[in-house]
Amino acid sequence: MRMPRLRKRNRDRKRFSAPPSVLAPLPAPRWTDGLSDVSIAGDPMAFPHLARTDLPAHPTTLGGYARLVREIAADRARWEPLVRYDALTRWYARLETGPGYEVWLLSWLPGQSSGFHDHGRSSGVMTVLEGELTERSLTAGGEGSRALVPGRLRVFSTGHLHEMVNASLEPAVSVHLYTPGLVEMNQYPAGTAQEAAEGAAADPGRHRVH
Ligand SMILES: [Fe+2]
Repeated sequence: MRMPRLRKRNRDRKRFSAPPSVLAPLPAPRWTDGLSDVSIAGDPMAFPHLARTDLPAHPTTLGGYARLVREIAADRARWEPLVRYDALTRWYARLETGPGYEVWLLSWLPGQSSGFHDHGRSSGVMTVLEGELTERSLTAGGEGSRALVPGRLRVFSTGHLHEMVNASLEPAVSVHLYTPGLVEMNQYPAGTAQEAAEGAAADPGRHRVH
């Protein structure tokens, strides 16, 4: 009765001790397809204990403001009913207020422009929701221009001096978060805007530039 059991064990040992050269090749690691956090560590959303539950009710950092703007941009049902095109002026609608910030929705018809302005003591984050806007910004080094399209965030700091215009042939919609809330917006005639930008650069502690 003992001999058959011994022979069976020997057969098993032989099977599992085969030299590496006869083993099937290992499949290529998954990350050779392209590195990313998800491909290496797996989808973090699959682990509920990793989901953040301690985020503040209101953002307090630049990253938090940027996240709020992205959330609003993705929530079309929230902002679309507030879109309104007015032939006489850009249309403003306040989307949200919180401690130390406020969020505005702006509707732009083709050709409508903000004119050169600063934002007083406010800084902020904006993005385009529909259409395309053109930003002309002024610094002591001169003028810069950039196209703003959906999906791109634009961050601006205190003293930023710029003009935004819908230079396209289609209406546009944008969302702007200001912190603190926008209580001061100084306008500059085109001829004096560059001079004001140079004055601001010479005295960076000054919020108002005239
Ligand atoms: Fe602005």
